[in-house]
Amino acid sequence: MNSELRQLIKRRGFYFLSQESYGGSAGFYTYGPEGASLKANIEDAWRRQFKQKESNMEIDSPTIMKEAVFDASGHTETFDDMIIECGKCGEQHRADHLVEDNTEIDEAEAFAAEKIEEIIEDENIQCPSCGASLSGIKVNDFNLMFETSIGPGDAERGFLRPETAQGIFVEFPRLKEYARNDFPFGVVQIGRSYRNEISPRGGLSRVREFTQAELENFILPGQDPDISDVEDVELRLYSRKLQDEGAEPAEMTVKESLEKDVVASEWVAYYLGVAQRWYERIGVDPERLRFRQHQEDELSHYASDCWDAETDVGHEEKDWLEITGFAFRGCHDVKQHHNHSNEDYRVFREYDEPKEIEVKDISPDMSYFGPEFGDQAGKVIEKLEELVEDSPEVFEQETIEIEVSGEEIEVPSEKAGFSQRTEEKDGEKVFPQVVEPSFGVDRIFYSILVHSFEQDEVDGEERNVLRLEREVAPVEVAVMPLMDKDGLGEKAEEIRDELQEAGFRVDYDDSGSIGRRYRRQDEVGTPYCVTVDYETLEDEDVTLRDRDSTEQQRVEIGSLAEKLGE
Ligand code: ATP
Ligand code: GLY
Repeated sequence: MNSELRQLIKRRGFYFLSQESYGGSAGFYTYGPEGASLKANIEDAWRRQFKQKESNMEIDSPTIMKEAVFDASGHTETFDDMIIECGKCGEQHRADHLVEDNTEIDEAEAFAAEKIEEIIEDENIQCPSCGASLSGIKVNDFNLMFETSIGPGDAERGFLRPETAQGIFVEFPRLKEYARNDFPFGVVQIGRSYRNEISPRGGLSRVREFTQAELENFILPGQDPDISDVEDVELRLYSRKLQDEGAEPAEMTVKESLEKDVVASEWVAYYLGVAQRWYERIGVDPERLRFRQHQEDELSHYASDCWDAETDVGHEEKDWLEITGFAFRGCHDVKQHHNHSNEDYRVFREYDEPKEIEVKDISPDMSYFGPEFGDQAGKVIEKLEELVEDSPEVFEQETIEIEVSGEEIEVPSEKAGFSQRTEEKDGEKVFPQVVEPSFGVDRIFYSILVHSFEQDEVDGEERNVLRLEREVAPVEVAVMPLMDKDGLGEKAEEIRDELQEAGFRVDYDDSGSIGRRYRRQDEVGTPYCVTVDYETLEDEDVTLRDRDSTEQQRVEIGSLAEKLGE
């Protein structure tokens, strides 16, 4: 980040390290008054698009959830990053990031720990804190969830959620009723998520407590979106293939991305189009935005395809930051919660006319599975259910061999209660699939600051200006009396009240010279200033100043709200 912008952020208190009087705590930031307003406006703009325009429901769920939820979602087992601890100074680092920072490799997250150890050794990568060699030090997995306990005494284990998504998934049986079982439907949530990042860095870009704005769109297999509204939106797409070839991203419309099979899912392509428009509207520079497809081995445990929106937040060199993930989660989450909880997460889908269906299922004997496998019983049954679909012939054997949590297990076939028959059915129960755009509000906030900051010259003086879009600017219009005497202040206060009444975000500023006040407003991105002077008292006209052009015009007070409304 440009050092002038860094100073501006500090000086104007957009955000700062939290609890600094106690030495601060890495990865935790407080948004100051300007920053809190900008962030809230980004969230409101997101809500207007992804809740209202897209006709989705919104929920607000707890940030602490039971361990069982994350056992089901897979987070307790697989939500890990790779950690390496310096043998000399004891500092811990994210091992894949060390590799990325010290080699030409862009995405090391997908590599196995052994491969990372090998690269650290070959490249003789050193500890960024003390310079000691990290060769030969073991790379371990580190689970990023913050653990907590729920209740006193023999407390229940819980976790601070690492994504808002699970708060939506666990409520699916209820939410589908609110949606009147009318698919597809979407549920959004804006809220805090927590990840115990190994090495928080880059200001807001990698923090331990952050805000996500997530949309879980539930669809039934075979349902497609209507893409007509976004089909002509231009995208910059960095497909797996182009990454492998070391080529540049390709530009094409949403429609072309599907015709050329660059994006596989119509739903993902649709949301890339909606998001591209939304980013531009709120001030992400389209020249510094791209969508990058995940490599096969980079995909999260729940995703079958994923594209990340990335912004360049570099100063002299490009520095790409993921701001949103667009994942096709299939039926992973609903199926997992169906298998681990006491509720039915399936949806009944009626056929056009009744059908003769071959039914295969199991009816496990719980008096055997419970005592025999304890807390692994759910997983054992899950494996057997997979076999029903994939290789039903195994149920003809006396015993079935499966692998659960790395252990070979034998199950007597008769205990699985397998049956295969033909039935006439009006419909069937299916698991919905999920397409998820997952936005990181803090990283979008950060990108907007970087992209909107400029330095230019006004009246022979250098000025700092944040060219924030009006929809997200903390203040839309600042009202200022030329001097706070002779009734100018009272008149300006009247105008402030009227504009506030008309629904504008208004600031009142009466300290310092007018020039200084304009600079102050430019620095926090206020698009308009209204100045009350002596002439105003006579002719009821004020000066309306435009932040970007710095042009000024006289406007009648009576038509000010209408003019600003334009
Ligand atoms: P990264 O690879 O950069 O750690 P991720 O792939 O883990 O990110 P996701 O799990 O896809 O990120 O999370 C969805 C979104 O949440 C991201 O696009 C990002 O905007 C935001 N996010 C994730 N982790 C953080 C963090 N530590 N700090 C700020 N925002 C985050
Ligand atoms: N919900 C997607 C993520 O946070 O990883």
